[in-house]
Amino acid sequence: MSDLAAPALPLMPRGLVERLICLHDEIKNVGQLGPLSRIAVALYDDTTDILKTFIHSSDGNSPLDHSVAKLSDLPSLRQLAWTGARRTINDMTVPAKSGQLHAERLVASGYLSSYTVPIRHKDVFYGFLFLNSFDRDFFTPEIIHQLRPYAELITMIVMRELDTVRMMQAAVRVIREVSSARDSETAIHLARMAHYARLIASRLAAKHNFSDEFVEFLFQFCPLHDVGKVAVPDSILLKPGKLTDEEMNVMRTHVARGVQIIDLMMRDFGLSSMPHFDMLRNVVAFHHEAIDGSGYPYNLTGDAIPLESRIAAVADVFDALTSTRPYKAAWSNEEALALLRREAGIKFDPHCVEVMLESLDAIKEIQAQFSETVFD
Ligand SMILES: [Fe+2]
Ligand SMILES: [Fe+2]
Repeated sequence: MSDLAAPALPLMPRGLVERLICLHDEIKNVGQLGPLSRIAVALYDDTTDILKTFIHSSDGNSPLDHSVAKLSDLPSLRQLAWTGARRTINDMTVPAKSGQLHAERLVASGYLSSYTVPIRHKDVFYGFLFLNSFDRDFFTPEIIHQLRPYAELITMIVMRELDTVRMMQAAVRVIREVSSARDSETAIHLARMAHYARLIASRLAAKHNFSDEFVEFLFQFCPLHDVGKVAVPDSILLKPGKLTDEEMNVMRTHVARGVQIIDLMMRDFGLSSMPHFDMLRNVVAFHHEAIDGSGYPYNLTGDAIPLESRIAAVADVFDALTSTRPYKAAWSNEEALALLRREAGIKFDPHCVEVMLESLDAIKEIQAQFSETVFD
């Protein structure tokens, strides 16, 4: 066991889902808003045109967890995204009968009316707020009027949290840009790695009870995993050959430096309200730990390594292997997957590896989509 103590976590603010559930409870006690049975937010990713479920509070079951769809395949929502118009459907059985999959699934769970608000700010489209009721014809003009301030509040909370994460990402991008870290690991590596992590987390979601919120924040935080490399000297960071033991020890300090940088940013930017800060810190602190304790810098073993860090590790290594680096040629997917298979349960979380082994098509899709720089 290393004498380095794993970083202690500060007390964390609640996640967005918990806040949404509290707010939902409050809203139901207002006026005639009791029958508001579901509040959900879906986020839009403009690099992939994907609309993905994010957070919800539902009185009944939640039929749309872990859903993703291309916005271009959803013409009526795409129209709302463009125009900013709101949409009321007071009988969901109509679009459900016409074969609209999402409406069908909501109706099957008993939701009969819906009100949709595009979340936009300063020409940026963030996603949608969906409100549903088990009652048909619930969303009358009067109800919509009563709901308006709450809809505003929810969209503001969501935008604020996303802006906080974006600000953090932008700050890290700037730090990387002025350092040689941008040459040692390219922006495209970070994009692919984040998408592999998203792939693993969403396929393990049912097994580990991950919320969409968890999956999304992991995706957002993964590109920050190596922020500490900005503190590694160029002679080591950009060395074309194999590192000496001494150089390797310096390289390994990027983990502890990364944690320091993240903590400083949290403090100096006043980001202490950011949800899932612990997840970000775990990804930075533990992405080089290995299941058998042979990783660094804390030599954690097995389940002591947080799951988000185990996911990030597999995503990171897979992309590093399949990328060209100054000191090595790119491996084929098959070669990289074979190494993951060999090291599953030894170095890597076997469930994360299993997802990668079963996802060659999705892996190829990510590689095709991110073959150019997208984070710059
Ligand atoms: Fe790293
Ligand atoms: Fe990396």
